[in-house]
Amino acid sequence: MNNYSTIFEAVGGVAGIRRIVEAFYPKVLRNPLIGPLFPAEIDPVMDRQTLFLSQFFGGPPLYSDEYGHPMMRARHLPFPITPERAEAWLGCMREALAETDLPQELQAIIVDRLSGPAHHFINQP
Ligand code: HEM
Repeated sequence: MNNYSTIFEAVGGVAGIRRIVEAFYPKVLRNPLIGPLFPAEIDPVMDRQTLFLSQFFGGPPLYSDEYGHPMMRARHLPFPITPERAEAWLGCMREALAETDLPQELQAIIVDRLSGPAHHFINQP
């Protein structure tokens, strides 16, 4: 993060967020706990996630401009999210980040920032 004021800038803007997203979803789809929740046609999901994470990490409000208020917990209510699934999601993110050349410290900050929402989205025991 040195010399950057946002995670968005530190990862290299929308292109950097996109690289993380492209490393992440193939892992999600292969994961037995969470893969089955996602459509095989994953490109539209990757597009929306790129917009959302850009905004979430301090970039321009790209997601809200297109889809309105994120209401992310509400948008996840149709999917049964257990504690194990939240951990699986974060594990895929950790692995995706490890494939990038982003500094370890920055990778840890990103996972840490996503950990709150991931646990907040749990809606099943
Ligand atoms: C906790 C574990 C999580 C699971 C199991 C999960 C699962 C899902 C599923 C199944 C979808 C719908 C895909 C589709 O059919 O369109 C989705 C959408 C999405 N998720 Fe998650 N998710 C999790 C955590 C997160 C976290 C932590 C974030 C970001 C903070 C996130 C951001 C999004 C976004 C931006 C979308 C697209 C929303 C839209 O439709 O506009 N998810 N997620």
